[in-house]
Amino acid sequence: MDRITLLASLTKDANSLVDVGCDHGYVAIKALEEYGVRHAYLLDVNEAPLENARRNVINKNLLTQTTFILSNGLKEFDEEKDTLVIAGMGGILISTILNDSLEKVKKFKRIILAPNNEVDKLRAFLIRNHLVFDDEHLIKDGKKCYEIIVCHYDDKIKTSYSLLDMKFGPILRKKNLPLFAEIIEKKKTLLNECLKKANDEDGKAKIKVELAMIQLLKGAKNGK
Ligand SMILES: C[S@@+](CC[C@H](N)C(=O)[O-])C[C@H]1O[C@@H](n2cnc3c(N)ncnc32)[C@H](O)[C@@H]1O
Repeated sequence: MDRITLLASLTKDANSLVDVGCDHGYVAIKALEEYGVRHAYLLDVNEAPLENARRNVINKNLLTQTTFILSNGLKEFDEEKDTLVIAGMGGILISTILNDSLEKVKKFKRIILAPNNEVDKLRAFLIRNHLVFDDEHLIKDGKKCYEIIVCHYDDKIKTSYSLLDMKFGPILRKKNLPLFAEIIEKKKTLLNECLKKANDEDGKAKIKVELAMIQLLKGAKNGK
């Protein structure tokens, strides 16, 4: 399965999907065609991707099940819908989009986030704002690996997340995925190589913190 298909599959049977940063519109198209989603709202901050998405939707004869909105994040979207997707952007940009429309975000039943980077910073934002982790996925698409977070807002659930949860994912780190173990091992090797080459104390200290986190992760896994 590729990243787009996994994202679409996570929207399964949604009455309404809101895809912020839809670009080509492939996630919404797949969700409508294959995963029983009834209507998709395709949002993008730029005209060109929105037009691209519209062309792709027309080619698939899905125009009646779609609405296109030029919008920075959710700012121009005021309807209450059930499923939100924000994928293919940096973790900090995703956090900003969520933060700018937090009251709207809280109303979605299912929120699917696929950051390209800075996943730990996005997790920290989610934890601070009572977004509860329902699931996490890891997928290799081409040469890159992607993390996907499924969450929803609930300030009544008292879940306490640790530093390891924030860094590696509260669900992901407990799933025992071979791909997860492979990524951690590669990261460890890379960090050790960087440590050998580093010549400033600040840089070395940062690498050591990252290595210590990996050590802690392994310790936690072995019940230490
Ligand atoms: C790399 S594409 C990701 C496309 C698709 N979501 C995916 O995961 O394959 C990022 C898209 O997000 C859009 N974008 C960036 N910042 C945005 C914002 N603040 N609000 C809405 N869309 C944004 C860009 O215009 C671009 O089309």
